[in-house]
Amino acid sequence: MARIIGIISGKGGVGKTTLVANLGVALSSFEKKVTIVDCNITTSHLGFYFDFLYYPKTLNQVLREEITLEEATYYHNTGVKIIPAALSVEELMGVDINKIKNLDFGDTEIVLLDSAPGLGREAMGVLNACNELIFVATPFMNSISDVIKCNKIAKYFGVKPLGIVLNMYRKGLNEVDENDVEELTELKVLAKIPFDLNVQKSLIYRMPTIIYNPYSPASIEIERLAAYLIGKEYKPPKGRLFYRILNFFKK
Ligand SMILES: Nc1ncnc2c1ncn2[C@@H]1O[C@H](COP(=O)(O)OP(=O)(O)OP(=O)(O)O)[C@@H](O)[C@H]1O
Ligand SMILES: [Mg+2]
Repeated sequence: MARIIGIISGKGGVGKTTLVANLGVALSSFEKKVTIVDCNITTSHLGFYFDFLYYPKTLNQVLREEITLEEATYYHNTGVKIIPAALSVEELMGVDINKIKNLDFGDTEIVLLDSAPGLGREAMGVLNACNELIFVATPFMNSISDVIKCNKIAKYFGVKPLGIVLNMYRKGLNEVDENDVEELTELKVLAKIPFDLNVQKSLIYRMPTIIYNPYSPASIEIERLAAYLIGKEYKPPKGRLFYRILNFFKK
């Protein structure tokens, strides 16, 4: 049975989709069969990270039982399978997000579900469908307090929380540090992804940061997280020092 990992947050814009796109590619580079699903159907944007601007078959149609999951599956050259949600408002009609739990992902080993923020219908659909959970937050109290709330709700669903990813982490510029986050949320900090302009630049080129610059600080931390999730030892890419110096001058 596939591991189905929900990626959720209280606040919006904290980096869930960035994490799903990059973690998907990273896990795939470790030879895992990975499917990523845009469950943020009201404000979907996972496809943008893979330069998908036009795609005729979507998760919306699958959830309306008009097409099969296979028909809405797109194969990226990294090996990741992507199930995008529709961009148009009209496509929201008749979509029951709760049906995600009924989807059969075939031989996929790891499914990542990219949620909408908060505790609305889409997040509930993700909580219903997943068997493991990763919370994403920025290292600020407003973001962390929302995770505390979400974690309480997640407990009702009996989902196993793997921990929390702190994104856009900046040395000396975080309101709450790692230890406080663990104490407040009762969740293990799985990764501290640095604030990294490569993430934003890669979005301009519509590709995951790991492909745009595998040596960037954010890419390296996401690779490390991917290795941790599948119990593999992580070795940072060779030539890292050279690229760190290059990254410094690129800034
Ligand atoms: N580590 C990072 N460093 C710099 N910018 C980042 C980082 N992570 C994400 N961003 C930027 O933050 C913005 C929001 O990221 P993203 O879309 O992944 O958030 P989200 O949680 O999926 O948002 P939503 O809740 O709306 O779905 C994007 O412009 C992205 O490029
Ligand atoms: Mg998103």
